[in-house]
Amino acid sequence: MSAFPNLTVVNHPLLHDKLRGIRDKHTHFAKFRRLIEAISQALFWEASRDLPLAPAEVETPLETTAAQKLARPIALVPILRAGLGMVNGILQIAPQAHVGMLGMYRNEETLQPVDYYRRFPPGIETMDVFLLDPMLATGGSAVAAVDKLKTTGVQHLKMLAIIAAPEGVQAVLEAHPDVPIFAAALDRQLNDKGYILPGLGDAGDRYFGT
Ligand code: PRP
Ligand code: URA
Repeated sequence: MSAFPNLTVVNHPLLHDKLRGIRDKHTHFAKFRRLIEAISQALFWEASRDLPLAPAEVETPLETTAAQKLARPIALVPILRAGLGMVNGILQIAPQAHVGMLGMYRNEETLQPVDYYRRFPPGIETMDVFLLDPMLATGGSAVAAVDKLKTTGVQHLKMLAIIAAPEGVQAVLEAHPDVPIFAAALDRQLNDKGYILPGLGDAGDRYFGT
């Protein structure tokens, strides 16, 4: 838990070490990508801890035995562009996940999210959905994304962010108190351009080498 009831900051020595790597302005994008993918995996393990299971059976080479399977399909929904980097990591541990897409960018003057693309897998309403965006800054993009997912009928929703600002966590809490957020760090504040401090800069630019 954290100072916010909707936020879990996942705490692990390896995560602290990887966070140092993504914050470092000298980290090359090839290494930045690997770190984002590894941190996303750690967040996903934690956020998926309470996914419901259903009874199943499996035939081993020797006999049939009781087993368990996930009760519902998983869907990953990255906010483009930067959220894509999180998908690559998580698919390595949950390759069966469906992937939806939400295209959004922040207007640099107003900081309001601009929506440009939306594509969700059929049946997403009943899936366990993970909204992915490495940076939760003002929270404008996250709140708009959750609005869209809920309007589509999504019932089981969590958000994974790598770095969150208090302002963004508060905005999601006010608009969508039922959506848990998992992050690797809760940073200090936003600057006057809406960038997270200390943060890591522009996540999309750093991941894609823009
Ligand atoms: C970044 C980030 C989030 C958004 C967060 O995207 O990936 O989507 O900003 O800011 P907010 O919480 O204030 O809405 P950006 O607009 O830079 O687009 P990009 O991923 O295409 O670079
Ligand atoms: N988006 C980013 O990529 N970085 C920030 O610090 C804030 C929003």
